[in-house]
Amino acid sequence: MLARAVTHALVGLESRRVEVEADVSEASLPAFVIVGLPDRACAEARQRVMSGIASAELRFPKGRVIVNLAPAALRKEGSGYDLAIALAILAASQQVPRERLESHASFGELALDGRLRRVGGILAVAEGARRSGLTRVLCAREAASEAALAGIEAVPLRHLAEAVAYLRGEGEPPPVDDAPPPPAEQQPDLADVRGQERARRALELAAAGRHNLLLAGPPGTGKTMLARRLPGLLPPLTPAEALEVTRIHSVAGVLSPDHPLVTRPPFRAPHHTASTPAIVGGGPSVRPGEASLAHRGVLFLDELAEFPRQTLEALRQPLEDGIVAIARAGGRAVFPARFQLVGSMNLCPCGARGDAALQCTCSAQRLTAYRAKLSRALLDRFDLVVTLPRSRAVELAAGPGESSAVVAGRVDVARRRSRARRSADADELLGRAVDRVPLSGRGRARVARVARTIAALAESPYVEAEHVAEALSYRGAPHE
Ligand SMILES: Nc1ncnc2c1ncn2[C@@H]1O[C@H](COP(=O)(O)OP(=O)(O)OP(=O)(O)O)[C@@H](O)[C@H]1O
Ligand SMILES: [Mg+2]
Ligand SMILES: [Zn+2]
Repeated sequence: MLARAVTHALVGLESRRVEVEADVSEASLPAFVIVGLPDRACAEARQRVMSGIASAELRFPKGRVIVNLAPAALRKEGSGYDLAIALAILAASQQVPRERLESHASFGELALDGRLRRVGGILAVAEGARRSGLTRVLCAREAASEAALAGIEAVPLRHLAEAVAYLRGEGEPPPVDDAPPPPAEQQPDLADVRGQERARRALELAAAGRHNLLLAGPPGTGKTMLARRLPGLLPPLTPAEALEVTRIHSVAGVLSPDHPLVTRPPFRAPHHTASTPAIVGGGPSVRPGEASLAHRGVLFLDELAEFPRQTLEALRQPLEDGIVAIARAGGRAVFPARFQLVGSMNLCPCGARGDAALQCTCSAQRLTAYRAKLSRALLDRFDLVVTLPRSRAVELAAGPGESSAVVAGRVDVARRRSRARRSADADELLGRAVDRVPLSGRGRARVARVARTIAALAESPYVEAEHVAEALSYRGAPHE
């Protein structure tokens, strides 16, 4: 007896229809095989499905069970096929109605006791199911809100037994409780940062123009504090951007079950011990890395100089193109990665440099190695480089600075302005800077962009020479 369940395979951020065919012949010798290019996690469905079916007080068929995942040429990764495999076997052994199963998409991992677990990527699967014209998506309860973002009805299930009862028409599964309201956004406020006017200005420019920012200086000057306050200055994502970012976070499996839609620009701050694939993307399972999770938001590399050189160099391509391309068997996966890079670093390994009260203990050799971490090419991609001075006691004792809400208001106005053109003076200054600084072609374009942001914040009809001059002041390596 043959039966079929429908699911979708993730290919990067997209999904492709996969039919799970189960062929059960109870008269044959016992055997259970899964064919059709499953990876290891997918092939291990055998154990989970057998055990899950037994725990649901259903019958695992005697005899020979062959499961074929079609199309065979497409690699099937992960444990999301478990539910479809189990249901196809149950349909082939006449325990659930076959036609009804074929009109649904099934996606989820089975625990050994038959409970359903959420697997990353349900949004892309549900989008594929909607395109295929399927009725509903059967999925784990925790994945239902995420699946529903695709505009298709999701059937939230806790256990394989509930899926069977639903397909038999014995009752709808219990509805998901209304999600609690999203937690009040606990974003740190810029008002907490005392002094550091130049760094605050650079942060505002970074927010208004999506520029990359490097904050350098001695310990305890507020670099990390400032960087963490950037997302609070950025406007919310548009509905299209929200879905785009949510799709990436879905594949990575990092969405909140209750509030899966990402509406604010993401802020990702990977530790310097994270692997290059974890940060840039890739690895055996071809998952988006931190660079893609930061898409349309901020990638913050705290203690930039502690990151392996290889990782930093691997970020150069996404910084330029806004995508990460990962070679994989049978082609390449492309993940969007249009993020703003914010780095923080000390001026030397011991950190004392830049602080008049301290004595640097770094050898010349260590200092050279430290500075070399930041290749010219990478430095060239930081539009704004600011060296923070040691905050004087007076500054720290001063009253609170402007709040994030006030600065975000200006950022919003600047973002809405149309691009201003350069005045003749501004053009001449930029031309001279190319030779004098000197500026690379990329550097020139980046200075021009920052100058435009400065003009927009000033609500100036033209980009003037003073705007170019300020933009130029943020270029180059950090200095004491
Ligand atoms: N400009 C400032 N305004 C208010 N508080 C500050 C400021 N700078 C530092 N602080 C205080 O010092 C703490 C450390 O600041 P922060 O972590 O931002 O320093 P940092 O520059 O990142 O240092 P490090 O180089 O050691 O990482 C903050 O939690 C805050 O309490
Ligand atoms: Mg810090
Ligand atoms: Zn030092």
